Amino acid sequence: MDQAENLRILVRMQKDEQNLPAQKGKILGSTRIIAITSGKGGVGKTNITLNMALALAKENHKKVLVLDADFGTANIDIVMGIIPKYNISHMLYEDKTLEEVILNGPHGIKILPGVSGLASLTALTEVQKEKFFAQLEDYNKKYHLDYILIDTGAGLGTNVINFLLAADEIIVIVTPEPTSLSDAYAIIKVVNQYDPDMKVNIITNMVNGQIEADKVFNTINSVSEKFLDKTINYLGFIKYDKCMPSAVKQQKPLMLSYPNSETSLEILKLSNVIMNKPYNKKQTILSFFELAGKYFGWNND
Ligand SMILES: Nc1ncnc2c1ncn2[C@@H]1O[C@H](COP(=O)(O)OP(=O)(O)OP(=O)(O)O)[C@@H](O)[C@H]1O
Ligand SMILES: [Mg+2]
Repeated sequence: MDQAENLRILVRMQKDEQNLPAQKGKILGSTRIIAITSGKGGVGKTNITLNMALALAKENHKKVLVLDADFGTANIDIVMGIIPKYNISHMLYEDKTLEEVILNGPHGIKILPGVSGLASLTALTEVQKEKFFAQLEDYNKKYHLDYILIDTGAGLGTNVINFLLAADEIIVIVTPEPTSLSDAYAIIKVVNQYDPDMKVNIITNMVNGQIEADKVFNTINSVSEKFLDKTINYLGFIKYDKCMPSAVKQQKPLMLSYPNSETSLEILKLSNVIMNKPYNKKQTILSFFELAGKYFGWNND
């Protein structure tokens, strides 16, 4: 997008701004925004996000939007077996509205398909971010979402951090591999630097049972308490289960292909844990932009 287009969007947004209702400051009213992330790739973020969304929608009748915010290897559509006409880039870089891009998934979940191969491009501009969140606000006014689950890319890219800081809380997925643990700690450390109040949750994945899961959690929590003075919240664990790769091969999420499997029930349990936990709603959208702008030195070009 060229400079002129950026300016056009900015002018349009300023016009829209005058028509916004008084509660503009609140990020998405009472919608709970949870970003699912990891330090290391391939630990199960996408599958957990999608199946958790299905658990919340199917069993608890929640309205859920899944946002594929992995700009490197977005693949929620593949795991779902759908071929989206448009994706987030048509909204960010072209004139499609969020509503035109969002798809209806099983059990009423909404899916915003992501785009691959953009991670190496520059981070989203302030204008793009504002456009995105403004459209999300508009969409939410119409659909009254209970949850937005954001499947981020792995690692510490600027776009990943943007989405993490926009969330009310984050879930870090960790496996027992030492690299997964150390990379997860790196994510927690960075998020904590930018937003010390961010609630950080852990789900351990691909463990062989409770003992291994607890060990993984205790390791990361004790390092975080010792060096960051931050206590991490433990949501629970998901065992290694060969139904998961099998569901991926079928391009049908586990919750739908193996609804009675142990892992589907574990994910259901985890979604109940999340629903029943109190959470803090971020107060203003400005605080997010100010906070992130402060740390990244974003400019308004
Ligand atoms: N509990 C599990 N048991 C067995 N296999 C699993 C489990 N969780 C995830 N997997 C497998 O791990 C692989 C990676 O999963 P997934 O794509 O969800 O990870 P990711 O963290 O989103 O990866 P990326 O960082 O590339 O986006 C998939 O092939 C999936 O089938
Ligand atoms: Mg993924």
